[in-house]
Amino acid sequence: MAAKKGSRKILVLSGPNLNLLGQREPEIYGTDSLADHMLRVDETAKQLGLTTEKVSAQSAAELVAAIHAARSTCDAIIINPGALTHFAWSLHDALASFAGPIIEVHLSNPSSREPWRHESVVAPVASGTIAGFGANSYVFAVHAVATLLSTEK
Ligand code: DQA
Repeated sequence: MAAKKGSRKILVLSGPNLNLLGQREPEIYGTDSLADHMLRVDETAKQLGLTTEKVSAQSAAELVAAIHAARSTCDAIIINPGALTHFAWSLHDALASFAGPIIEVHLSNPSSREPWRHESVVAPVASGTIAGFGANSYVFAVHAVATLLSTEK
């Protein structure tokens, strides 16, 4: 069951190695840290009248637990699963149990990279995917959530 109206909250999930953003392969992922991205998420969410809860995790198990908890506390999920995107079916199944909008986010465009990055096991259970826009991917994702929540019946 989603959280009640009036307290629209987004769970923002970051998968493995995203805690190293800014230091890790900056030519691909940019120089902003995860904290920089999350600050922008919070600013955008605030402008749109939304609140956030953020979880950064290094394992699928931690992300699955956060998704289970969000079933009764959050209205939407924004998730950048990192490399788990490409093989973590437990994430797919956990997200399938969530009733609200789910936006899959990537800083890079996995479809234009190595072949093993071309499959997303999250995409089939996401409302949509935003990939390849660097820091703007997160900002666009918050706008997508706001739009989807505002048109929800
Ligand atoms: C990523 C893309 C994934 O393929 C990769 O494993 C990451 C980051 C992105 O944001 O572009 O860790 O999710």
